[in-house]
Amino acid sequence: MNRPVLIAPSILSADFARLGEEVRAIDAAGADWIHVDIMDGHFVPNITMGPNVVKAIRPHTSKTLDVHLMITPAAPYVGAFADAGADRITVHVEADRDVGSVLAAIRAKGKKAGITLKPGTPVSAIAPFIALVDLVLVMSVEPGFGGQAFMSAALPRIAEVRAMLGARDVPVEVDGGIGAANARDVAHAGASVLVAGSSVFRGDASEYARNISAIRDAAERE
Ligand code: DX5
Ligand code: ZN
Repeated sequence: MNRPVLIAPSILSADFARLGEEVRAIDAAGADWIHVDIMDGHFVPNITMGPNVVKAIRPHTSKTLDVHLMITPAAPYVGAFADAGADRITVHVEADRDVGSVLAAIRAKGKKAGITLKPGTPVSAIAPFIALVDLVLVMSVEPGFGGQAFMSAALPRIAEVRAMLGARDVPVEVDGGIGAANARDVAHAGASVLVAGSSVFRGDASEYARNISAIRDAAERE
């Protein structure tokens, strides 16, 4: 009884010089959500983009903009990302002293609040926030860069999160190193939203639909 999955291409692997065009291309290719990776060179050893880029891509798609904040602290910035047009904002449990109030601030802006954790952080760290979230994101690579290998240690963590959520209708998203080769394992472990950067933005835009379908088909296989 495998549920359908959502595919969320990460624009971290897009051509930044043609970002609007790339967003339109993955929208047309069947992306369910568009995953936007925000890095500050402090929480993670890489710098990507800010709210102005979210605002710039917003007119290019009506699909969910799924913003993953890898910044510390996140609290001073969630309002700017919400105003820029994010639909979902996910913050790291490691990033702020008062994570609960950051999640509440996201919801107060009328946005869906997500929580995530680095691969080395025990799943129990998010337990106090389960009632405050609309999504849990399990990292399957060390955050900071696209194109890394999937860490199979994420699989039991996905199952642990799913069990922790119980009957709550909260999706589990997984991010890092996902492609057609491991999508089935990820979905069977309990994930319903799959982020994929390098495995979607492979080849030219005419190949994006095939890349997305390959991941979806693998994930939905019994
Ligand atoms: C890593 C980012 C991921 C990454 C996914 O810090 O959060 O979203 O871009 O890229 P791939 O699919 O290439 O691992
Ligand atoms: Zn991400």
